[in-house]
Amino acid sequence: MKQTIGFVLDGEATTCAVAPGDLLLDVLRDELGRHGTKEGCGKGECGACTVLVDGRAVNACLFPAIEVEGRTVTTIEGLARDGRMSAVQQAFVDKGGIQCGFCSPGMILSAEALLARQPDPTDAEIRTALLGNLCRCTGYVQIVEAVRAAAKLRRGAS
Ligand code: FES
Ligand code: FES
Repeated sequence: MKQTIGFVLDGEATTCAVAPGDLLLDVLRDELGRHGTKEGCGKGECGACTVLVDGRAVNACLFPAIEVEGRTVTTIEGLARDGRMSAVQQAFVDKGGIQCGFCSPGMILSAEALLARQPDPTDAEIRTALLGNLCRCTGYVQIVEAVRAAAKLRRGAS
């Protein structure tokens, strides 16, 4: 039986009817129009479905939708402000961290979570934070560069 839950989605109070077994990925894509949240493996291995729940990166393909009741969920659609991409989004574009783009929403959200807790990460910390996000296009070098550049941008450095 479905139950109505309330939570904050990309900065807006939202309600949605979910069943106990519903996964956050399906609710985001099918009920709430967040198609930027991708389904790759569907079993917690690729990171394409990564979103932030209370600022923590989670695999939406494994996360029970009912558990976001009263919490804050951020998807890739929630990062831009006043039509401007976030520093991380901009850096991924500028540094060539996006090729086919399928991994990019999840990568970017994992990077956002990292930079929120560690504003000046080492390359090793960046790689560790992105271990759960697979990319078959870029070889990861440009992605690490993008996160490093985004960290600088966020700190106001040039
Ligand atoms: S679709 Fe969720 S980890 Fe691959
Ligand atoms: S850019 Fe294609 S999978 Fe990462």
